[in-house]
Amino acid sequence: MKIKKAIIPAAGLGTRFLPITKAVPKPMLPVVDKPNIQYIAEELKRTGIDEIIIVVSPESEVIMRHFSAAPELENRLLSDGKKALYDIEKATCAFNVKFAVQKEPNGLAGAILCAEEYIGDEPFALLLGDEMIYAAPEEQSCMERLVDIFDKTGKSVIATMEVFGDDVSKYGNLGIESETDGIMTVNAIVEKPAINEALSNNAIIGRYVLAGGIMSKLKTLKPKGNEIYLTDVLDELAKKGELLASTFEGRRYDVGDKLGFIKANVEYALRNEEIGKDFKAYIKEISKTL
Ligand code: G1P
Repeated sequence: MKIKKAIIPAAGLGTRFLPITKAVPKPMLPVVDKPNIQYIAEELKRTGIDEIIIVVSPESEVIMRHFSAAPELENRLLSDGKKALYDIEKATCAFNVKFAVQKEPNGLAGAILCAEEYIGDEPFALLLGDEMIYAAPEEQSCMERLVDIFDKTGKSVIATMEVFGDDVSKYGNLGIESETDGIMTVNAIVEKPAINEALSNNAIIGRYVLAGGIMSKLKTLKPKGNEIYLTDVLDELAKKGELLASTFEGRRYDVGDKLGFIKANVEYALRNEEIGKDFKAYIKEISKTL
């Protein structure tokens, strides 16, 4: 079955970004001139997945507004002859986005379950809102690669990268049974292990394609504390030989972290058609003083 739908969990409180996240939801923080969540919607468009379910917190109506039509603004831009800006505005409402509200912060699996009415037991893509992945036009994007592997194998597949030292404990960690051409068969998963309990250096990063039936499995999970863990279902799949992981081309940014967010802004600004050249000159100049 083809992947047609994607879930983007984006209901986190963003406390690491206080005070800005007091009134502005974290997915709306800009990378150059676009909210970071729009880059994820663009990543999906490039993959050919055209139905997006964004899981938001009850206070996030500004995200809904961002993806909705704004007739007054559009008319104004047209009557002022600002066609290029009109096109930019139209592009933000060209995504097929639906919203689900996560009322309590009860973990990643809790967020996914909020989208159940749109997904049922179909396979779906899952893209975590805290991560942006850039792929150059000539590269296969991370999501394109995952969808391709799912199409060929029918198995759930998650993106992975190698991490070292203290970083190992920040991510879900994979036990690897075998690997061919960057595609791995996973035999176990532990969520954020202590360094001495890690199974490998392969971390789970926030891009997944999950096979049909996952939603039903999630519903059977028991909360640990307040949270339900997707990792528990993934570990079950891994133990049955039904889970793959894959490396990917391109560059990942952890925009849920202050330094990662600033790095994304610097690198996207350098690539930006309008300001890239001048910004590069500025960076070169300022770096002489560092
Ligand atoms: C989640 C997952 C974790 C994964 C990480 C990637 O954790 O539970 O397995 O490695 O995303 O960013 P979170 O960062 O939401 O706590």
